[in-house]
Amino acid sequence: APAAAVIPAAGLGLRLGPGAPKALRPLGGTPMLVHAVRAMARGRTIALVVVVAPAEQVALVRSLLDEHPPPPGVEQAVVAGGATRQESVRLGLAALPESVGVVLVHDAARPLVPVETVDAVTAAVRAGAPAVVPALPVTDTVKAIAHPGAPGEPEPVVATPERALLRAVQTPQGFDRATLLAAHEAATSDLATDDAGLVERMGVEVVLVPGHEEAFKVTRPLDLLLAEAVLARRRI
Ligand code: C5P
Repeated sequence: APAAAVIPAAGLGLRLGPGAPKALRPLGGTPMLVHAVRAMARGRTIALVVVVAPAEQVALVRSLLDEHPPPPGVEQAVVAGGATRQESVRLGLAALPESVGVVLVHDAARPLVPVETVDAVTAAVRAGAPAVVPALPVTDTVKAIAHPGAPGEPEPVVATPERALLRAVQTPQGFDRATLLAAHEAATSDLATDDAGLVERMGVEVVLVPGHEEAFKVTRPLDLLLAEAVLARRRI
């Protein structure tokens, strides 16, 4: 069965500063979203890439993607997103044909993920894992707080989890299609920041495979500088 990628790209990206929705900001002169779509379309056995765009920008995103046709054998489609990432992913999943067996969910905000990472995730799902997540060890020590404080107020620490047992997770996260659909159907809130978390809550095992430094998420202005530098290095 073919694999498909769903790319939630309906976020506004306010942390990046004012301007166009994040997915449409240029990187090396090309919108971040186009980089993300290309990265998925190059993946082995990927037959379809579904982009979930801000509702008001579906037509714009469609014409943008038409300017950058996918490789032969890969189709691309654009659907309208929702108010949260989780809702946007659900709307993307609803656009997949029955024939799809493996689904990758990839943030538009991770435009530079190498194809080797994409293929490793797909391969692990095909080898039998229902949910596969690329991840890296964390370099910062992480503190837990009871709840976010008011801006500028000190926040009391409640715990320091052992760093060696923490991983920072990336995308694409790969799933057996039925497992991911069931996880979204079983979800009781709309607050999930990743799809694997929903699968965990169903009691299904999620496994990690090595992620890649270049699959970092472009969230803040500094991340844009890093992304431009990574692209420039690739073009040498
Ligand atoms: O906000 P965050 O960085 O976690 O967003 C991750 C991804 O989810 C981004 O690619 C963003 O465009 C997408 N998203 C979405 N719909 C929303 C919110 C975020 O597709 N309502």
